[in-house]
Amino acid sequence: MSAVKIGFYGHVRQYHNLKAEIDKAINDVLESGSFVMGPILVRFEKELAAYCNMKEAAGVNSGTDALWLALVAWGIGPGDEVITTSNTFFATAEAIWLAGATPVFVDIDPATCNIDTGLIQAAISPRTKAIIPVHLYGQCAKMREVARIAKAHNLRVLEDNAQALGARGDDFAIGELSDAVAASFIIQKNLGCFGDGGALISNDPDLVAQVRKLRNHGSVKRSHHSIGYNSRLDEIHAAVLSVKLKQLDRWNDQRRSIAKMYDEGLKDTSLKLPVALPGYRHIYHLYVVETPGRDALQAYLQDRGITALTHYPIAIHQQEGYPWGHSARVCGSLKHTERSAAQVLSLPMYPELTAEEARITIEAIRDWDKSQK
Ligand SMILES: Cc1ncc(COP(=O)(O)O)c(C=O)c1O
Repeated sequence: MSAVKIGFYGHVRQYHNLKAEIDKAINDVLESGSFVMGPILVRFEKELAAYCNMKEAAGVNSGTDALWLALVAWGIGPGDEVITTSNTFFATAEAIWLAGATPVFVDIDPATCNIDTGLIQAAISPRTKAIIPVHLYGQCAKMREVARIAKAHNLRVLEDNAQALGARGDDFAIGELSDAVAASFIIQKNLGCFGDGGALISNDPDLVAQVRKLRNHGSVKRSHHSIGYNSRLDEIHAAVLSVKLKQLDRWNDQRRSIAKMYDEGLKDTSLKLPVALPGYRHIYHLYVVETPGRDALQAYLQDRGITALTHYPIAIHQQEGYPWGHSARVCGSLKHTERSAAQVLSLPMYPELTAEEARITIEAIRDWDKSQK
């Protein structure tokens, strides 16, 4: 067994680094007697909206629900189509299905793994109502192009920002060129609570008000209901997120420094490395390399005590049973999506990863790469 142990996540290290502040924030909630829909949530929603430089945010219980409830609030449902990619976490498409609408998958740009904006136009039909670009791995999709097409066809744009809080485009901010932004705070995200959480952030107060209603059984006033759901962000999570949000830019900078080490250390190997677009602030929620020998490399690293994971090894349209009796449309070839699914490997990446751990990981990958020649 290897003496080295480099895990994929740094959750516990992160907690230890902020222990006093997090413990106090949780304790304050416990002593307050207010656990759901209280003042800490209201405060966090304001902090989050301010961080995103947007007007309002509504905390919900997951990123999936943030996507789904925005679609529901817009009345997007059966008979409607929403364009996105199949190279994303399952929830992007699931939210479309939950709303009753049809996901339409277009291929990705092989360089960034984000939606190939050149393919969106051809995917539009009379039923198209929205586009969901995903800011995969921590880098923004090309929002200027998405927004231009959406405007020309009167489509909504909902940014799936589960992976890129704190990222920026070259000349645009997340939220600036869309109708709404969905965030996820599941623990493994770059801003994570101790469990599940999410938020819908928008400059449209009516949309946020509608989502606030939907997340709470259609109610904003005690005992007054219309149909909704139960999807609230609890006070304890909001309290933890408030503490962590203050660290987010610093953490993202640390991720970028680790990415730089990986870039440097792996640049002359056979691996395809992440491509950061010029001027974009990629925040490396994940550092994803590609190689046809992915499974062998993953096993080789595991034998050396280094955990690398795959995001995402089975594209949505390749999942067993797809589309489970729902409607879906694949527009053109998804060859880059399929290649990516077969080759991606995410290296350990979190702000608390030490330079020494990154160095050991690089060395192990270089050794494996040499053994392949
Ligand atoms: C791209 C993407 N979209 C949506 C989600 C869904 O978020 P959640 O797990 O909070 O429901 C996630 C993360 O899990 C994600 O990575």
